[in-house]
Amino acid sequence: MGNGHHPSGNDTVVHPVPIRVLVGKKGGYAMTDFSTIAHSYREKSLVQASAGKQLMDMLALAGDEDILDVGCGAGNLTVELRGRTVGRVVGIDQAQGMIRRAQEQYADRNIEFQVGSSDCLPFTKAFEVIFCNSAFQWFPRPKATLREFHRALRPSGRVGMQASATRNYSPNFLRAIAHCRRSAEIDRLFAGFRSPWFFLDSAEEYQTLFEQAGFTVNTCRIAALHLPCTPLKAFDVFNSGAAAGYLSQACFSDPLPEDFAERMRQGVRESFEEQADADGRIDLVFHRIFLTAAKTDPTA
Ligand SMILES: C[S@@+](CC[C@H](N)C(=O)[O-])C[C@H]1O[C@@H](n2cnc3c(N)ncnc32)[C@H](O)[C@@H]1O
Repeated sequence: MGNGHHPSGNDTVVHPVPIRVLVGKKGGYAMTDFSTIAHSYREKSLVQASAGKQLMDMLALAGDEDILDVGCGAGNLTVELRGRTVGRVVGIDQAQGMIRRAQEQYADRNIEFQVGSSDCLPFTKAFEVIFCNSAFQWFPRPKATLREFHRALRPSGRVGMQASATRNYSPNFLRAIAHCRRSAEIDRLFAGFRSPWFFLDSAEEYQTLFEQAGFTVNTCRIAALHLPCTPLKAFDVFNSGAAAGYLSQACFSDPLPEDFAERMRQGVRESFEEQADADGRIDLVFHRIFLTAAKTDPTA
């Protein structure tokens, strides 16, 4: 990804990144666009919000840090960060619709929002903290992203990252997709599904990834988060994240029929109804990595 241009050290440059969909190339990757769900994101992203607040607590901010929120979405956690520091707060996201929404909602909150990609950050030694919540799994080039994190941080800078993890990232969602695939046509389309997600299966692997990028990892654990909820709420949660992959033409090699998204939504809803217990509740489970790290070389 990226346009081949590597930003200079000027941290005031607004660095627009075109929204592109890359599909069908050998060794390529699928890129999804969250813009279409920007309006409802804050209400539906319950899992991301609750995990994000845990991550913020883990970072134990002193209150004067300059903070960059990478993959900030509609800015609902960036505004929380704003409340925890008197320093500069910047949110960056590749989805223009998300950034527009963040700018509309938090225009008066002294937060800089800009469109940009995690693997081409227009900052050098500009922040004490990088916050990256529920976004890392969407980054197609995690190693390049970590190089950018390293460059954007000041010496001794820290990063807090929380994301979906492991191939079994949500047993409920996987079951819902298996349910949809009972249809022969949908199953055939899924044979050409290219996952947009980056998942590692153990905390050790995430730790190694960060260490190789020049970070000392302080906390690193994969936790199972439980969200007991109604099937309808589970469906909202599905739409706030996973749907951007499972319903996106960018992730499939064959052209999707016009009614594909509706049929998938119907199948997912049915599966969530089936997964509910006698009280009509689902135990929605997510495996998430929580990681905090600091730049290893205090002078770098
Ligand atoms: C599930 S949302 C998380 C938003 C927010 N951090 C939160 O916790 O609510 C993931 C976000 O990552 C953004 N994203 C995905 N890939 C990206 C990339 N390579 N660079 C920057 N943002 C990216 C998406 O546009 C989306 O807004």
